[in-house]
Amino acid sequence: MKISVIGTGYLGATHAVCMAELGFDVVGVDVDQSKVLRLQRGEVPFFEPGLEPLLRKHVENGRLTFSSDLQAAAGWADVHFVCVGTPQRTNALSADTSYVEQAVDGLAPHLAPGALVVGKSTVPVGTAARLRERLRAQVAPRTHADLVWNPEFLREGHALHDTLHPDRIVVGTEGDVGVATLREVYAGALESGTPFLVTGLETAELVKVAANAFLATKISFINAMSEVCEATGGDVVALAEALGHDERIGSRFLGAGLGFGGGCLPKDIRAFQARCIELGLNRSVAFLAEVDEVNQRRRARTVALAHEMLGGRVKDRRIVVLGAAFKPDSDDVRDSPALDVADQLYMRGGDVVVHDPQATEPARRRSPDLVYVDSLAEAYAGADLLLLLTEWSEFRVLDPAVVGSRVRQRKIVDGRNVLPVPEWERAGWQLRALGRGA
Ligand code: UGA
Repeated sequence: MKISVIGTGYLGATHAVCMAELGFDVVGVDVDQSKVLRLQRGEVPFFEPGLEPLLRKHVENGRLTFSSDLQAAAGWADVHFVCVGTPQRTNALSADTSYVEQAVDGLAPHLAPGALVVGKSTVPVGTAARLRERLRAQVAPRTHADLVWNPEFLREGHALHDTLHPDRIVVGTEGDVGVATLREVYAGALESGTPFLVTGLETAELVKVAANAFLATKISFINAMSEVCEATGGDVVALAEALGHDERIGSRFLGAGLGFGGGCLPKDIRAFQARCIELGLNRSVAFLAEVDEVNQRRRARTVALAHEMLGGRVKDRRIVVLGAAFKPDSDDVRDSPALDVADQLYMRGGDVVVHDPQATEPARRRSPDLVYVDSLAEAYAGADLLLLLTEWSEFRVLDPAVVGSRVRQRKIVDGRNVLPVPEWERAGWQLRALGRGA
């Protein structure tokens, strides 16, 4: 079986590499020539643990190639995974589906007989059915090519594991179109017992957005509890731990702190609201607006806390922001809470210095006015305030005595609730954490 993967961002590049790892011949297609060239040289254009060695392996053994020739890929492969982005539109909540449309339009007229187009991108419910009609209208006569939807649940930072060992495989289709083909693609995972769920197109699209909406809600729930803890003297970390022991609730995604960002959760909850409004279901997911607001308020609260700890004066104070990526083990700064807080403190006149183990370049492109330093020690030297905003493992294990000997003032905000508070306090630090009181 020959496979093409359209779009080589976080999702597509990972999927292409994993398909090659499963033994298929794969071409990854992207309109961005420079990305194609880098991937063909064995370079991953973003940070994802473990991906680059596997990419190299399959580029070198010839199983994986990259190209910007969509038409050639359309005629060559049997299965085409569409992995292009569906970003939030400017000045609107809704998702821009033009890239998935372009991918389908580019593939359809050139598809080989029996080819299967498999949508993986996150799309508003109803998009897949529309795209299937669009595809059917453009394929050559008697080609019998078709389209199904197979949402992706990978997390950045764990992309290889999530793609090779998914916790479920969902296929949205009509009847059994494409089911046998996808069972063959995912044979390895199926053998190890991964649930394989066949649904209609709409349900498959909804599984993805509902999952992300649920995760975002869970995070904002605990962050709302954080606000209550701050006002009442409660401790959100102890609260979350106690809640998590209830198996019906579970402890994952109950990490209180600066909240969620990235290229998925924020845009997906907004696009879901926009789609429901279009469908006349204004009330059904109206709570997601509140989920979004709770999330944004954590950023504002962190800025306020910094202000407070600096005695009401941010201007000209050396404020060190640890972390720029939206989460650890990623260099993605899309809607990054950490970078957002850094920007806001800079706008208030702070002398803001940012250190991130991987995201400096993407952060610099987004927020060029901030100062970025490569070494952690260089970052905290002379600091008036430290803010730990992305919980990279190296930040969790900082030695408060060593850091304390280099800063100007021993003041730190733990925006992710990961530092051992007593240890820092014993070393003479004033530590404030979100949801834990003074
Ligand atoms: C998310 C989903 O977890 C994936 O299942 C999904 O496939 C992906 O979106 C997608 O739609 O493609 P990802 O964006 O990589 O994955 O990041 P998450 O691990 O979900 O983290 C999202 C944000 O939530 C991060 O900013 C993280 O710091 C924050 N978070 C996470 C918390 O604030 N608290 C937690 O307890 C967990």
